[in-house]
Amino acid sequence: MNKILVIAGHPDYKSSVANKAILNEFHQLVPSADIVYLDAEYPDFNIDVAREQKRLVEADTVVFEFPFWWYSAPSLMRRYFELVLSHGFAYGSTGTALHGKKVVFSFTAGAPETAYSPEGYQHFMMQQFIPQFRALSNLCGLEWQEPVISFGMMLLDPDDKEAAERFYAEVKSHADRLAKAVI
Ligand SMILES: Cc1cc2nc3c(=O)[nH]c(=O)nc-3n(C[C@H](O)[C@H](O)[C@H](O)COP(=O)(O)O)c2cc1C
Repeated sequence: MNKILVIAGHPDYKSSVANKAILNEFHQLVPSADIVYLDAEYPDFNIDVAREQKRLVEADTVVFEFPFWWYSAPSLMRRYFELVLSHGFAYGSTGTALHGKKVVFSFTAGAPETAYSPEGYQHFMMQQFIPQFRALSNLCGLEWQEPVISFGMMLLDPDDKEAAERFYAEVKSHADRLAKAVI
């Protein structure tokens, strides 16, 4: 059996629109997946390393799900990486616990895709921000899968019907792509 673990790294799901909706939709598609909401379990960033490492060991496929913040993962997700993916567990000569597990990075960007180009206001392509995640996965012996990314995921005016329709269509598409990536 393919045991799927989703580490949900949004620092505040109460204020989340996109990631909350994506995870709800994804859970309907893949009800067997375990979703760990880091903000609910560790509001003070005091991550229980042994508990999280056990969860990883028991999983076959790991998803890191978060909003793209300052061209990376938010601090809570990064704190998880810093603490849980430790030397001797996730990397180093004896750190083989994660070898061969599939990993999917799944995230939402507020800026539209067109912004992520040399001509756009972000100046860089989204592909140029991905190596940080890929390098982490490589070092941990995780089996890299194509990331699942959505752009333009800020619903500025929920009363704008067209914008809301586009937004929720993208939520659905993201959840579908993620479900396909993990199965
Ligand atoms: C602190 C912060 C930093 C952000 N940095 C970026 C960024 O670097 N690139 C980008 O496209 N959007 C950025 N955004 C927009 C978020 O990616 C967007 O609000 C999020 O994906 C929406 O998901 P949510 O509704 O689940 O919070 C940032 C938002 C915040 C609050």
